[in-house]
Amino acid sequence: MDLSTKYLGLKLKSPVIVGSSTFTGSVEGVKNCAAAGAGAVVLKSLFEEQILADIKKEEGYTDIYDAMPDAHRYMTTFLRGNEIELYVKLIKESKKAVDIPVIASINCTDFGEWTAIAKEFQDAGADAIELNIAISPFDRNVKAEAIEDEAVAILKAVKKSVTIPVSVKIGSHFTNICNFAFRLAQEGADGLVLFNRFYNTDIDIETVKVIPGNALSVPEENSDTLRWISLLFSQKIPSDLSASTGVFCGNAVVKQLLAGASSVQLCSTLYKNGLSYISTVLSELKDWMLRHNYNTVKDFKGLLNSDDDVKVFERLQYLRRNYDMN
Ligand SMILES: Cc1cc2nc3c(=O)[nH]c(=O)nc-3n(C[C@H](O)[C@H](O)[C@H](O)COP(=O)(O)O)c2cc1C
Repeated sequence: MDLSTKYLGLKLKSPVIVGSSTFTGSVEGVKNCAAAGAGAVVLKSLFEEQILADIKKEEGYTDIYDAMPDAHRYMTTFLRGNEIELYVKLIKESKKAVDIPVIASINCTDFGEWTAIAKEFQDAGADAIELNIAISPFDRNVKAEAIEDEAVAILKAVKKSVTIPVSVKIGSHFTNICNFAFRLAQEGADGLVLFNRFYNTDIDIETVKVIPGNALSVPEENSDTLRWISLLFSQKIPSDLSASTGVFCGNAVVKQLLAGASSVQLCSTLYKNGLSYISTVLSELKDWMLRHNYNTVKDFKGLLNSDDDVKVFERLQYLRRNYDMN
């Protein structure tokens, strides 16, 4: 049985990727992912925003530097360089340690940094780059189109600066995901990762305070990903699709592949069940393939793609006649 698949032009021995998370933030972690059977890893993102915050906390950095532009520039360049160097080291050592593709991930705040850092990651040997483009949509004066334009501009600039494949990881909160996804595809996104799951918040009604919500997803969240993977695949989007959010077991992997995903990224299920759970996921995938007489992933990828299937994915509202709860 052949579980191999192609994603971003890379050959993966299985479609199961460990998504960007603390599992992939160290060489040891990357080695563990490969040993557990991952087809590829997406390294923990380098968040420029975090670097900038860390710079402020670094020993030796005092507010006095803010008032001295040259010293400020020196300190921030030096400390930022240090953070990037650590990430470059992670890429280089991970590449040496494992024989599966290593995808680097970045999230920048400064336009110029997206391209500069992407190029450094390519030079360090990353097999591909995942752009975690999450632009905060909290300013009521910024139009939706401006946010989408910015994401497209970032992608275009990064594509110009590197030759390795580039994927874009987006959130699910766009008015017309199909239109936005096609724009990214047309500007050269080799892959689209659907979806990034944003930080959740909650309210504790006893302490009457805002608190962090669930960091981990639940299997039911899988259905949103399934819908959009299917709709984009059926419209023949010229980018590979990678399913992320709510994929917990082998059966959920099968569903995403049937909908048209080229790969599936696991995260929450591994926090809940441990990295060794990847082998259970792969066994479930193999069992299903055996029961349905498929020898390769290619044989059933995107199979649920008929007009009738698409119509079901396009349905948004519950009509009484097909959802009667009595
Ligand atoms: C603890 C934790 C850390 C994460 N770190 C990153 C990150 O650095 N970059 C990123 O793009 N996504 C990050 N994610 C998001 C995951 O990669 C994934 O997209 C999300 O959790 C949805 O997938 P899931 O339902 O399988 O958890 C993180 C998620 C968790 C729970």
